[in-house]
Amino acid sequence: MNTDHPSEQINNLLVPIRNFLHVATPQAWLNLAATPEALNILLIDHLHCELKAAQSAALLLRRYILDEQGAAEVLNWLLPYEDAIYRKQAVNLRQLGNHIPRLKITTEHEWQARMVDRMVLLMKEELHHFSQVFDIMTARGIDIQAVSASRYAAGLLRHARKHEPAMLVDKLIIGALIEARSCERFAALAPYLDSELARFYISLLRSEARHFEDYLALAEEVNGGPITEHIERLAKVEAELILSPDTELRFHSGVPTS
Ligand SMILES: [Fe+2]
Ligand SMILES: [Fe+2]
Repeated sequence: MNTDHPSEQINNLLVPIRNFLHVATPQAWLNLAATPEALNILLIDHLHCELKAAQSAALLLRRYILDEQGAAEVLNWLLPYEDAIYRKQAVNLRQLGNHIPRLKITTEHEWQARMVDRMVLLMKEELHHFSQVFDIMTARGIDIQAVSASRYAAGLLRHARKHEPAMLVDKLIIGALIEARSCERFAALAPYLDSELARFYISLLRSEARHFEDYLALAEEVNGGPITEHIERLAKVEAELILSPDTELRFHSGVPTS
């Protein structure tokens, strides 16, 4: 066990995250996650989660803002990363660098321009995290196997309201919950990891905390007013997913049944 204590700076970063989430990661999840066999699965799942985070942001842009050309640009941006994980093509992710597509948009609502800015930056950071996890896995000889998705994101999205703009508001709150939980879990797991992984997970906290804030700010802006009751409703669902028994161990899974 790594005994480094999180600095005060990190604790300050985590305060709003812990206030937002209704429950902390259960000890039973941490105990299982810290075992060497579980850690490999978690890294593979983590790699998938980083890509899914970028894909979800891309989906929001395509669904709510971009025209056909913009949508194609965003999909092309993701393609090499999808090749690396789904088609196991040898891709030099470093060579992709920080290429960001230039998206021309004509906006109907003010929040759309802000959403493009925030989501493009978020995608860039998630794809960078993807490359970092990919490098760690390669160095450790961990094969990218297919893993089933956890019930978590689908379990949350099931509770999004079905009419617009409420559905978008809820999807953005769900985005905030997923980012907040990732952040809370990276911090909770770090003391159980070897120093390389612990340092890496702590290094992710800052951007994930910012993603959480960006999603919340966008949700409030789209809603045109406070979203407290919707946050409460969805945070309750999130807490149930985290505290209820779960047969599969994944980065966002519930309490392990074995
Ligand atoms: Fe990330
Ligand atoms: Fe993130």
